[in-house]
Amino acid sequence: MTKSAKKQGVDLGRIDEMIRECQRQRWALIPLLQKIQEDVGYIPPEATSRIASALGLYPVQVQGVISFYSQLYTKPQGRNVVRVCRGTACHVRGGKTILKLVKQHLGIEEGETTPDYEYTLETVACIGVCALAPNLVIGTTTYGHVNPRKVAQIFTKRDSGE
Ligand code: FES
Repeated sequence: MTKSAKKQGVDLGRIDEMIRECQRQRWALIPLLQKIQEDVGYIPPEATSRIASALGLYPVQVQGVISFYSQLYTKPQGRNVVRVCRGTACHVRGGKTILKLVKQHLGIEEGETTPDYEYTLETVACIGVCALAPNLVIGTTTYGHVNPRKVAQIFTKRDSGE
């Protein structure tokens, strides 16, 4: 186990077990990455070369797949992923201001996670509910017709455990 994996509590032995089940099965790369992420919460960088070697791939091929899929993470994520929509419908109805307020509230930028691992902030191209623009999603809950007052209410409620 590498020093950084130990620090983050990553069980590389557990990851090796998952990798062993897919020895020499190149087609299994994506399902394996999904399985590791489901189990660990992200794909630890230490796992890349192990996966590549077991599947008969180059590490750069594994990294390429990980970076292609935005749903695969290489860093630990917060318990709640906040996705602010940057699509056109949301943009013209104040999405930019919503993003700015969420950033201020969480004290992080896009792609970052709060130090307590409570929230990770992302932006998305379109959530698919443009009629409710502007929108934001926290975990599996979508908040539509968001405005500055509503942003404050959403996070105050969540932070107080309501
Ligand atoms: S543009 Fe925001 S939901 Fe479609």
